[in-house]
Amino acid sequence: MSASRIIVGLDLGSHRVRVVVAEVHEDGRLKVLGLGTVPSEGIRKGIVVGFEPALDSVRRSVAEAERSSGLELRSVFASVTGDHFRALRSEGVHAKEGESREITPEDMEQVVRVARSVQLPPGFRIQHTLPIDFVLDGRGGIKDPVGMDGVRLQAEVLLILGEISVLENAAKVIQKAGLNVEGLVFSPLATALAALQEAEREEGVVLMDIGAGTTEILVLWEGAVRHTEVLPLGGANVTRDLSIGLNVSLEDAERLKLDHATLLAARDPAQRFAIRQVGQDEDRYVTAETLRSIVEPRIRELLDLAWERALKGEHARRPGTGVVLCGGGATLRGLAETAAQLYERSVRLGAPLQQEGLTAELQDPRYTPTVGLLHYGYRRLGSAAWSDARAKSGSRGLARWLHARGKRQGK
Ligand SMILES: Nc1ncnc2c1ncn2[C@@H]1O[C@H](COP(=O)(O)OP(=O)(O)OP(=O)(O)O)[C@@H](O)[C@H]1O
Ligand SMILES: [Mg+2]
Repeated sequence: MSASRIIVGLDLGSHRVRVVVAEVHEDGRLKVLGLGTVPSEGIRKGIVVGFEPALDSVRRSVAEAERSSGLELRSVFASVTGDHFRALRSEGVHAKEGESREITPEDMEQVVRVARSVQLPPGFRIQHTLPIDFVLDGRGGIKDPVGMDGVRLQAEVLLILGEISVLENAAKVIQKAGLNVEGLVFSPLATALAALQEAEREEGVVLMDIGAGTTEILVLWEGAVRHTEVLPLGGANVTRDLSIGLNVSLEDAERLKLDHATLLAARDPAQRFAIRQVGQDEDRYVTAETLRSIVEPRIRELLDLAWERALKGEHARRPGTGVVLCGGGATLRGLAETAAQLYERSVRLGAPLQQEGLTAELQDPRYTPTVGLLHYGYRRLGSAAWSDARAKSGSRGLARWLHARGKRQGK
């Protein structure tokens, strides 16, 4: 029997706090044991703005996941977002000394340490260090130089920076709920692990996670993250526009959006839906066409802005680059089709890729970050975690490098 461990992912979203508990086998197979999902309070645009309400949401989501899994949860990998996150490219050089020319893991650590020694904006820390490329004695395109011979090792990395106080508040909420934070993960990195196929990561892909309060953009090419951006816009903006435009409550606007909003050609544009306006005792009616006239411009604006930001990472310009959409906001009917038209690229709706044991409930674009955290956790555990020590030696490729650094740079 193969060894297994329990891993818990917690997505601190603006719309919902989601918890997924899974048994992860030594070979990476996941079996989901329990779920928790509650509406989130006190989290706006990915950031904790109300400590007690956020704490209560985390507690409730965890309690639900504990009930459904029958396990007491002790520690989690948590995903966080917000437009404070930013990417910074950096390079490091390390010259080998001594007789041996073989590149060791220590050489790698050293060169990455040099690449991380950059001036950071005040109040920011390096949350992730993602290698892009290694160059050995002038020869580039090396993904893993360990074991190769050479003298001069260069590393090109993408540093993901986050605002310290925002990150610490997120960690604090989770800790206050009685959980140990094993890793705080920039949400789209987790999403990438759950939703992207190997071929997409290699050939080039723009991942967009349209949540309630944020839209995260991640550009990958040749297996490496090249660029990232977070827009402080998402599905909640559409709901707000409907609420203002139709003079209905936010709850009613949300329901109207989920039940009836579409960007696809309406079969009957004159079809009418009942609404109850604020301060009115009687229902009024709104047509499908009116709904669309409010929703569509907002979505197009969001998609345009997101694309503009994606193109800042020049790799997104490559014609072969596809687009994968995740997050609840992306499930709006007709959104993927609209994106395909606007971007003139192949666009697909992403969801956690099929894994043994994943229930149908998780095959949903809204669960990609949470499920991604399980993959992330698996890769972070490393070989030492498996009791029988038969574990394979670490994981390779992109995920291996998604180090969540809880430390300030230089420590
Ligand atoms: N079927 C649907 N049609 C349109 N919008 C939807 C649908 N389902 C969910 N949404 C929207 O998706 C958004 C929530 O997405 P998601 O659960 O991914 O957000 P989140 O991760 O909690 O937020 P964020 O990532 O911004 O912190 C909400 O604005 C919700 O209205
Ligand atoms: Mg999200």
